[in-house]
Amino acid sequence: MSESQELRVGIVGYGMMGRCHSYGYAAAPRIRPGDVRFRPVVMSGRNESAVAKASRDCGIEVYVTDWRELVERRDVDVVDICTPPGTHAEIAIAAAAAGKSVICEKPLATNYADAARARDAVVSAGVQHAVGFNYRRLPAVSLLKEMVEGGELGEVRLWRGTWLSDEFVDPTIPFDWRFEAAMGGTTICDLGSHLVDMALWMLGPIAEVSATSSTFVHERTVPGGVRPVEIDDASSALIRFASGAQGTMEVARVAPRRPCDFVVEVNGSKGTAVFSYNQLNELWFASVDDDPRLYGMRRIRAEHPLQPETHGWWPIGQGVGYDASFVNQAADLAATWSHSRWVPSFVEGAEVAAVCESMERSVKTRRWVAVNDVAGEQ
Ligand SMILES: NC(=O)c1ccc[n+]([C@@H]2O[C@H](COP(=O)([O-])OP(=O)(O)OC[C@H]3O[C@@H](n4cnc5c(N)ncnc54)[C@H](O)[C@@H]3O)[C@@H](O)[C@H]2O)c1
Repeated sequence: MSESQELRVGIVGYGMMGRCHSYGYAAAPRIRPGDVRFRPVVMSGRNESAVAKASRDCGIEVYVTDWRELVERRDVDVVDICTPPGTHAEIAIAAAAAGKSVICEKPLATNYADAARARDAVVSAGVQHAVGFNYRRLPAVSLLKEMVEGGELGEVRLWRGTWLSDEFVDPTIPFDWRFEAAMGGTTICDLGSHLVDMALWMLGPIAEVSATSSTFVHERTVPGGVRPVEIDDASSALIRFASGAQGTMEVARVAPRRPCDFVVEVNGSKGTAVFSYNQLNELWFASVDDDPRLYGMRRIRAEHPLQPETHGWWPIGQGVGYDASFVNQAADLAATWSHSRWVPSFVEGAEVAAVCESMERSVKTRRWVAVNDVAGEQ
């Protein structure tokens, strides 16, 4: 690290997440100034003119066309991986070998074996490591976790997560990495990994799962022809938590006019709480102790300074958005850099991968799958 307490970042990939992360690094010191700050110094991408433009747009002075060069640079302290999931493990392992800390977009990998290899590499290298489960950093989601942990819902019995998107509705969308299992992973792995992360974070380990998947558009165009789609368009899963709670998860990329609509609901012995992403500044809550004359759910404004992840943001009523999750991610990681392990780390990322792979195996075998059986293989 340089003397000015700057963590110099190399961002691998210049797509949507490359832009989101560079935005988060730029905004974090304005929102939550601290002793440590991230400074992107180099961006990599395979297409020279595209990465040149993206790095210029993001205010990053240097670009390279090979991520291996970025990983080896002496002026890089942290490698930030913003490429498709099938590339994550190889880049993370190379970064760890070069002694760099690693921030990796979700999912950590498209299968548990790769996720475990990446986890083992960063742990044995003794570097910091984090997975970009950014939705944890929204105030309302973080407040929900705090309420579960604080017992405000009582003993948690039911957990429910749905994530609907219309990304794949149009059958004329051409084949790209998102339709290739080894590169993009399944819809369980893509959307489901966020929900599984939230489920594990809120309720603890998942013991077993049973899942089913469907693919509705079976092939997509490539130049000169078509290629079979290798992943599910939609999946549903039943979940049994080690705590005794039960849950359900539904993920779909074929739900028309549902752009990124996810909902997480928790029902406990004392109350219910619901988060819906299309009202991301709110959390709905009711307790069995509420006055029965006022029976119903109450809308909590999840922007109050006493709530988590609101520190440094605008006064209550101004709203916090998707972008704030990346700013909070950068601020949280900077604040904990020198004294505690980053969270969620590759350890949590691998746990999520084990659950996702258990769901995928259940789809194939049409049987319940114990997560420990999958995790025990590595
Ligand atoms: N946290 C979130 O909210 C969120 C949202 C979208 C995507 N993601 C995740 O971020 C990652 C990137 O997604 P995106 O939407 O930014 O994708 P994108 O397609 O917009 O960008 C991908 C980048 O990776 C590069 N790339 C593609 N294939 C590559 C390869 N084989 N080797 C090296 N580089 C390659 C592309 O050139 C591009 O720079 C994925 O893991 C995805 O699941 C997270």
